[in-house]
Amino acid sequence: MNPSPEEMADLERRFQQERVVSASARPNGSVDIPVYFHVINKGTGVANGDLTARMIADQMAVLNAAYANTPFKFTLTKTTRTTDRIAFDDFGAAVKIALREGGKNALNLYTANLKNNLLGYATFPADYASNPKLDGVALLYTTVPGGTAAPFNQGDTATHEVGHWLGLYHTFQGGCVSPGDAVSDTAPEATAAAGCPLGRDTCPGQGVDPIYNFMDYTDDACMNAFTPGQAARMDAMALTYR
Ligand code: ARG
Ligand code: ZN
Ligand code: CA
Repeated sequence: MNPSPEEMADLERRFQQERVVSASARPNGSVDIPVYFHVINKGTGVANGDLTARMIADQMAVLNAAYANTPFKFTLTKTTRTTDRIAFDDFGAAVKIALREGGKNALNLYTANLKNNLLGYATFPADYASNPKLDGVALLYTTVPGGTAAPFNQGDTATHEVGHWLGLYHTFQGGCVSPGDAVSDTAPEATAAAGCPLGRDTCPGQGVDPIYNFMDYTDDACMNAFTPGQAARMDAMALTYR
């Protein structure tokens, strides 16, 4: 059925708003980020953390697909492999400092056996100035595509952490209260969502929760989008800090 005039007017309004929100972002794919991929392991084989070249390539592809509607693309510049049981099981600042390469625009990705049930963590763009050697993203090695961390083994932990690395907050930041995540086109959310809870609505009257957004806490199979506002925020952060 054709949309009613009211629906057409609403669609047109939303389109105009999206154009305003995304007006400041550079063109899609115009900012090339060099990636230094550091594979920490405790021996040979994937079970010991020694990811295959295929897993690394698949992770890069997931990252590039996720950021396709943003200015950013990611190029694998170098892979390093470090075999060290302590660095793998007790990953921390010392390992990051020892391995980091490139300038402030370079993404250093580390995979290791992160402690405390962490899937990943990241530094924010504004952290670079005071702590350049700690800048980057750490991932639990089993979260990469083909890893064993189901339902978090499709590579979107990297997508999510790189979102932080480019200055995004969680969609549930600040709960239902403005400014929330400081992005105007992500509906506010009272708390983190888990699984893939269709129709979840924790801030009544403010739109359904952004469960499909990469910056929520849902399963990898559920999260599939950054908004134009998030792309614009990442671009502004990158222009300022990276
Ligand atoms: N809990 C982590 C963080 O706050 C990562 C969440 C990743 N979620 C996912 N579906 N892979 O940064
Ligand atoms: Zn996060
Ligand atoms: Ca928001």
